[in-house]
Order: sequence, then structure tokens, then C-alpha cells
Amino acid sequence: MNKMTLEALKTELCEYLAGAAAAYFPSAVLPAKEELEAQLKASLEYPPDPSMGDIAVPCFKLSKILRSAPPAIAAKLGEGIAEKLPFIEKAEIAGGYLNLTISGRFYREGLLPAILDAKEKWGGSDVGRGKTVVIDYSSPNVCKPFHIGHLGTTVIGHSLKLLLEAVGYKVIGINYIGDWGTQFGKMIVAFDKWGDRSATEKRGVDELLDLYVRFHREAENDPSLDDMARAEFRKIENGDERNLELWKWFREISIEEYKKTYKLLGIEFDSWKGESFYTDKMPRQVEKLRESGLMKQDKGAWLVDLEDYKMPPCLILKSDGSTLYPTRDIAAAVYRKETYDFDLALYVTSAGQSLHFAQWFKVIELMGYDWADKLVHVPYGTISVGGAKLSTREGNMVLLRELFADAIEKVDGIIAEKNPDIENREEAAEAVGVGAVIYHYLWNSRIKDISFNMEDALSFDGATGPYVQYTYARTASILSKAGELADAQYSPGDYQPNEYESALLRQLMLLPEKVAAAIEGYEPSVITRYSYDVATAFNRLYQSTRIIGAESEEVQNFRLALTRAAGYTLKSSLGLICLKTPEKI
Ligand code: ARG
Repeated sequence: MNKMTLEALKTELCEYLAGAAAAYFPSAVLPAKEELEAQLKASLEYPPDPSMGDIAVPCFKLSKILRSAPPAIAAKLGEGIAEKLPFIEKAEIAGGYLNLTISGRFYREGLLPAILDAKEKWGGSDVGRGKTVVIDYSSPNVCKPFHIGHLGTTVIGHSLKLLLEAVGYKVIGINYIGDWGTQFGKMIVAFDKWGDRSATEKRGVDELLDLYVRFHREAENDPSLDDMARAEFRKIENGDERNLELWKWFREISIEEYKKTYKLLGIEFDSWKGESFYTDKMPRQVEKLRESGLMKQDKGAWLVDLEDYKMPPCLILKSDGSTLYPTRDIAAAVYRKETYDFDLALYVTSAGQSLHFAQWFKVIELMGYDWADKLVHVPYGTISVGGAKLSTREGNMVLLRELFADAIEKVDGIIAEKNPDIENREEAAEAVGVGAVIYHYLWNSRIKDISFNMEDALSFDGATGPYVQYTYARTASILSKAGELADAQYSPGDYQPNEYESALLRQLMLLPEKVAAAIEGYEPSVITRYSYDVATAFNRLYQSTRIIGAESEEVQNFRLALTRAAGYTLKSSLGLICLKTPEKI
């Protein structure tokens, strides 16, 4: 048998089943062969309990076409199947199901070589080749702090980028920073009143944050500050030199700060074009809206009525003629379509912005852009820390950089205790500290509201980043101990994998399907949870079986290859959710 993935196995299996259906039920009127094969493939299930086999073929739908009872069909289709298909070991009939057990030969000769060949790219494919996706993610608002509320968009967005790249898409990551708006007016007022150039130079974004918080505190008692802020922002819009220069400076300071956090996360963006970039791109779209008659005036403001679509109107221009958040998004979408000719455009933001996206997506459609259906909003739920409601204005926001620094410090303490002589301690503490936070966050399906708990995140036991990263390091340490033995070319003999080995292989083979499912649902948590299953399966094997010093050379060779394959699978899956995998922890 040549190297073979689960996907290939399913294809061959369904080809066989379609043929068998035609042969055993000659009088049935079957759909075209390819159609039937596709239907069969889509219907395959994985029995929850491995004693029921690895793959189940439900025969209920076939019952109508083949005019026979499901158990009778299952019996016919299963007849002699293990003799005919080398990747099937056993067939059993259970009710209307044909339950199939995958053969040790498939694992040895098909799957294991396929994984060893793919290495840490295991799970990838080229289904997306030739297609382009743009992802708008992270996108913090300049001058406001980069806080825990941005964790979701940043890591979900980046994970989606990595997942799509893994299956061959060209992906453009865009950090659409909020670098335009009245917050700059507020900053200028605050800076003029209470700020100081050298303190700002020294303290950077911390100084900006203090000014921001102070502005809001003072504005509560003195609403005239807000009018002043609007006036200062208008001056920026009108090209006032001093204000523009301050704007640029505040923007630079903030970006410098973001970049530190992105570096920690291993994130680089392909584009940093933020809201300000679109100031001169909006008039064209506003004109188009005006000419098409879509835009109506209401109390001085201009808007697109969306009553027919059961949504509040989409605001395009304020009564003073200034543009709004949706106006910029419309212009940015057109620019991106013209620049990248995307096949799909994702926007990763909190669910609180769902209406905003639904509204302007509709406006794009009404404007006649035929790519409106390529725009997809990917929302996520809220995050709280220790149950407290977080607010930037109150100044009790958990900053991302502080969150990561805290995690790294704590992990460093744990490693110092567990493994004091480790040479890469700093690197390991950083990878595990940052990884713990991300893993804890990406464990839940994205739409769920979650409460962040650092202690849970940092545990080395259970469904955590440290546990899975540690398991990866364990595979690396076994391989390094085995030295030349592990480097030897893997040659499949006829060893029959034991229960723990089969259980692990059964997990490893699933990664390509998990990647597809994660992309389908824009749901990185599929991969997070999967990586835990792989780690658990490997640790069970490790605890129950001798890897180095196994009963024979052949078995040892097989187990080392399996350990390597588990390592690749862990590295690949953790990599897809933005986690690094140090060799030693
Ligand atoms: N800057 C916005 C915020 O922090 C998020 C931007 C999302 N992207 C977009 N194209 N609207 O809320």
C-alpha cells in the first residue's frame, strides 16, 4: 500500500461501496456513480466508541434507492469487504449501520508515511490554491489602549489566516486601525491642557492612556470639553498643520506599542491601512450613493433606509457633512476588492458590531456590487476577567501587554521550579505563557461569552496550552534521547498496532478534516480541542508502552515513527492556533 490519508481512504471506500451497490442490487435505479459516491462520502460517520469500529456507513438513505431494509444492505455491502480493501480489517453489521474497522496496514503503510512526509505541514492541502482571502482583524483604535477585549479579534483573526494559508489560499491580513475620529480631538485637548512632550516621549502609550482617562473624567463635569475635542478633530480634517503633526505622533506611539504585542504573538500584517487611509476614497462612494438615489436626507443627515430589510438605516453622512464608521467601511471594501480582487473578505469583530456589518453589507449589495455576498462578518463573544466589567474610560481595563507579561512571569516561576537547569528558559516561558492565554481563550467556540481565569489557563494539567505544549516537548525529548534510532528511515513491517497506538493513529488521521471544519465554521476552537485529544492519546500511549526499549527493533522503530508523527501533528495544530512549540520546557 502507498502512503494514504483518511480522505483518500474514504474516496476509495465509497468507490467500492457504490460499485458493490450496483453489483448486489442490479435492478435498483441508482444515481450516477460519482453522485452516489459523493453522497456516500458525505454520509460516513465516526462511531463514538472504537469497539464499534472506526467508520460507520449508515444505510438508511440507501434503503429507498435499493428497495431493501438497511440491515440487509449493510450485510451485502460488507460482504468480503476486508478481503477486497487492504485498508479495512473488519466489518460488522449493527442495525442499519455497516461498521468498519481500519486495518493496521493502513496505519503502518498508508497514514504514518503520509504524516512523516508532510511533517509539520500535516493537515494542510491545496484546496484554496488560486483564491484570495482578505481578513480584517485586530484593528485597535489608536490612542485607546490595546486591551483584553482585543484578544478575540487578534487571535481568532490570525488563526483563521493560518488555517486558510494551510489549505493554499493567498491570505491578506489587514490591521484596519482606528486612526481617525474624535478621539484624536480629545487627545489634543487633553495634551494641551495636561500633557507634556517629554513625559509623552518617555512614557509613550501609558501617558496617552492617562490623558485619555483624565479627559473622560473631566468631561463628565465639563461637557464643553467635548465641543472643544470636536473642534480640534475638525481642524485635523481640514489639514491644520500642528494638529496633523500631533495626530501622526500619537498614531506612531500607539503603533510602536501594538507591535510589541504582535511580536510576542508572532503576528505580522500585510497591510496597516487604517481608517484615515480612506478619507479621500469616501467621496466616490458617497457620490455613487447619491446618484443611485439610495441615499436620503433625514433631519439633515444622509442615510440609506433599510426598513425593507428590517434594519435601522445605515448612516452615511452627519448633518455637518462628516463621514461615519459605515462610510469608511464601504470605501475600504471597494478599495480592497479593487486592490486584491478577493474571493472572500472576513471581518473579525465582537458580536456587538453585528448590526453595523449587516447594514453596510446590505448597502454594498444595494449599490450593485456583485461581490456583496463575499463579505462575511465573523463575530465573537465578550470576555470578562474575574467577573468584573471592564471599561477603558474607567481606567480598569486589562491591557494585553500586561496580561501576557503576567502570564510569562508566572510560567517562568513554574519552569524555574520544575526544570531549573533548562537552557532555553526565557524562550520557553514566553512561548508557554503567551500560549496559555491564547489556548485558554481559543478553547471555547468564538461566540460564547467567556470569563478569563489566569490560574486555569496556566495549569500544566488538563485542557491547557501548557499541557499540550509540554506533551510536544515530551515527543521531542523522546526523539532526542533515541538519537540515531529515531533518525533511521521508517520502514513499515507487519507489526499490528496495539490499542493505544491505534487510538493515537485514529486521532492523528483526523487533522485534515479538523482543519476543514475549523475553516468551514470560522472556528479555531475545533483545532484547540483536537490538539488536546491528540496530546491525551499520546500520553496514554507513553504511560502504557515502552517506546525506547520496546520488545523488538521493529516495534521500537514503529513507535518512534509514531512519536514523530504525533509531534508533527501537535506542532501543526498548535501552530494553527498561534502557539509556539519549544523543544524543551
Ligand atoms: N476599530 C474597530 C474597533 O476597535 C474595529 C474595526 C473592525 N473592522 C472594520 N472594518 N470595521 O471597534
